[in-house]
Amino acid sequence: MKFFVDTADIDAIAELNDLGMVDGVTTNPSLIAKSGRNILEVTKEICGMVKGPVSAEVVATKADDMIAEGRKLAAIADNIAIKVPLTWDGLKACKVFADEGRMVNVTLCFSPNQALLAAKAGAAFISPFIGRLDDIHVDGMELIQDIREIYDNYDFETQILAASIRTPNHVAESARIGADVITAPPAVIKSLASHPLTDKGLAAFMADWEKTGQTIL
Ligand code: E4P
Repeated sequence: MKFFVDTADIDAIAELNDLGMVDGVTTNPSLIAKSGRNILEVTKEICGMVKGPVSAEVVATKADDMIAEGRKLAAIADNIAIKVPLTWDGLKACKVFADEGRMVNVTLCFSPNQALLAAKAGAAFISPFIGRLDDIHVDGMELIQDIREIYDNYDFETQILAASIRTPNHVAESARIGADVITAPPAVIKSLASHPLTDKGLAAFMADWEKTGQTIL
């Protein structure tokens, strides 16, 4: 399973990238706003750091305007995935981009039928939002499972990019179900290393080691 990092924070991307944990990056208008940077500049910087797909999202709502914005974003670097919302206009833009051979990430997916449409429109990635479904008391993981089953039934090549990941359990469940990619904030990716029994075990080892009076170096 591939790991994308869901941020426009250059330092956070660099830290994870140095560890080989970053297969791609996703951004959205909220994350660009949070970075305080110009979208074209920060996206170019990210594309220079990371080899894999870097999603940059259009902000227009009409297909023609999305297409113009998407082409401008795609001109930033070869590894741009143009991110469009799962609306009828977004699907129209997706089809145009896909026919031009461009990578498209269709975002804000909340139902299996929406995922089906994105695959038929030629999306490289579909982004079902787990956390935002959980927020309204709908099981977000069930959506990942449903899309996996549907895509496998028909051999769709669109990759399932499990998004809006908030917890380590979302990551483990996505991997178990067979999502192709997860995108998660840097803090969630780092939290995957934590386990209370690891901390407890390490503390016990350190206490016992102290008693030996030895050093290794
Ligand atoms: C994905 O591409 C989105 O940027 C992201 O996962 C949204 O996550 P959120 O629901 O925690 O904002």
